[in-house]
Amino acid sequence: MEKIKIGVVGAGVWGETHGSIYHEHPMAEFVAICDKDIKRAEAIAAKYGVKEVYADYREMAQKSHCDAVAIVTPDFLHADIAVAFADAKKHLLIEKPLATNVPDIERICDAVERNGIRCMVDLHNRWNPPFNKAWQEVRSGRLGVPKNAYLRHSDIKWVATDMLSWAAKSSIMWFLGSHSVDTLRWMFDDEVSRVYSVKSEGILKDVGVDTADTYLTTLEFKNGGIAHMENSWATPNGNTNVNDFKFSMLCTKGMVSMDLSSHNLIHLVDENRAYTPDILVTNFVFDKCKGLSYESIRDFVDRMVDGKEFRVTLEDARRGALIVLAILESAEKREPVTVNL
Ligand SMILES: NC(=O)c1ccc[n+]([C@@H]2O[C@H](COP(=O)([O-])OP(=O)(O)OC[C@H]3O[C@@H](n4cnc5c(N)ncnc54)[C@H](O)[C@@H]3O)[C@@H](O)[C@H]2O)c1
Repeated sequence: MEKIKIGVVGAGVWGETHGSIYHEHPMAEFVAICDKDIKRAEAIAAKYGVKEVYADYREMAQKSHCDAVAIVTPDFLHADIAVAFADAKKHLLIEKPLATNVPDIERICDAVERNGIRCMVDLHNRWNPPFNKAWQEVRSGRLGVPKNAYLRHSDIKWVATDMLSWAAKSSIMWFLGSHSVDTLRWMFDDEVSRVYSVKSEGILKDVGVDTADTYLTTLEFKNGGIAHMENSWATPNGNTNVNDFKFSMLCTKGMVSMDLSSHNLIHLVDENRAYTPDILVTNFVFDKCKGLSYESIRDFVDRMVDGKEFRVTLEDARRGALIVLAILESAEKREPVTVNL
C-alpha cells in the first residue's frame, strides 16, 4: 500500500510536532512544509528531509504532490487555507478550533463537501487515556445515565503571555475551551442546548495581553444533563503543571473522577519549585512521541489508510465551534444563549 503524502502549513511549535509524527509514522511521508516565514519552513524541512518548501500556501495548494495537508496556523487563520487545499482536492487535518466565526466555519464545511474530500479536526482529548477509559465505562452503561459533570481545563499565564504570540487575537475558549466542549459532548453522548457563561478580565490585560482571563460556563444538554466548565489562561506560573485539568461526572448509578494535572505518578523538585511532569499529553519515551496529542495525529494517518470514519467528525468540530461562539456571546451579553446547531 502506498504511503499517505502529507504537507504541513504553519511551521510553528505545533506544526513541527505534526511534521515529526508524519516523519515517524510508517504509513506517512512528510513531503511539504509552508510558512509565511520561510526560514521556519526551511529549518523544519532541513531537519526532516522535506523536499517541497513554500512561503505561500496558495502556491503549495497548486503545486504540491501531497495527498493531505495539516493546517497548523493560529486559531483564527484556518479557513482561507482550508478552502484553498480543499479546492485542490487535498484531504485536511485542521488544528483545533475548526474556525472562530460562523462564515469561516461554513466556508470550510462547504468546501469539504463540494470537493468530496475528507476532513478531521484535531480535538485530541478523546485520545486521553483516563478520558477514553471513562468514556468506555460510561458507554457500557455500568454507571447508569450521565447527569452532571464538572470540567476544569486551564493553562498557566505563560501560555498567553509568552508561548503564543497571538493570544490576544484568540481566547482560552478557543485554545482549551474547544477541547472541553468536545469532551463534554462526547462523554454525555448528547448535544448542548443552552449555555450561560460569565467571564473575568484584568490579570492578562494588566500585562499587555488583551484577552479575557477566565470563563465559568454552565452547559445544559438536550436530555437534561448539566455541566460546569471552567477555562482560564490566568492560573499562576508557579503551578506544578502547565495545565490544571480536572473532571468528574455523576451518573445515575455511579461516578467517575479524574485529576490529570496533579497526579501522583511522578513528582520532581529542584532548588526553586516542584513540578508534576506531563506524562499524558506530550511525553517522549526513547525519543518517540507517546502523548495523547500525538495519538490523534497518528490516528488521522491510520484512518486515511483504512478509510474508516474519523473519530472526530467535521460535524463534531462544526457543532463544537458554534457552541464556543454561543459561550462567548453569553459572556458578552451576561445572559443565557440557546445553541442553534
Ligand atoms: N492540539 C494541540 O495540542 C495543540 C497544541 C498547540 C497548538 N495547537 C493549535 O495549532 C495551531 C498553531 O499553534 P502554534 O502554537 O503552532 O502557533 P505558532 O504561532 O507557534 O505557529 C503558527 C505558524 O503559522 C505561521 N503562519 C501564520 N499565517 C500563515 C499563513 N497564512 N501561511 C503560512 N504560515 C502561516 C506563522 O508564521 C507561524 O510560524 C493553533 O490553531 C493552535 O490552537 C494545538
